[in-house]
Amino acid sequence: MLVFEKNSLTTEIEALIKKYGSNRTSLLPILQDIQILHGHISDFAQQEVARILDIHPVEVYGVITFYSFLSIEAKGKYIIRLCQTISCDLAGKASIAKVLEGELGIKFGETTTDKKFSLEYVNCMGMCDQGPAMLINEVVYTKLTPHRIVEILKTYK
Ligand code: FES
Repeated sequence: MLVFEKNSLTTEIEALIKKYGSNRTSLLPILQDIQILHGHISDFAQQEVARILDIHPVEVYGVITFYSFLSIEAKGKYIIRLCQTISCDLAGKASIAKVLEGELGIKFGETTTDKKFSLEYVNCMGMCDQGPAMLINEVVYTKLTPHRIVEILKTYK
């Protein structure tokens, strides 16, 4: 008789379902935890979540693509999200974006070859009176200047 070893990702997903429950409202927290643990939600993880929750994989994919904090692609260890909404735009978002791209050698939407940094735009995150604003993973940085960007990036390199 053949015995297949259970994939460790399947075991992880089962543990998350135990933690959050197996109804539809559990889908988002489960995906958020997979994102935190793996930096993205792979095709296999999507299939397994759908299978175990008994929902269609398209539903899982739809949730991932709706939320900017979830991703189907592997991203950098540090995900830099610069606000692109009007207040931050007027406060100098473009010059901040230029410095970020120059310092990291990548464009927005890209990840450095060493998989350390990813650059993304996000919409308003509620710091409009303190723009330009950005997030590096869960840390918020406000009142950014080109000089501050260089100093902030030094602490992550
Ligand atoms: S417009 Fe940038 S945080 Fe609101």
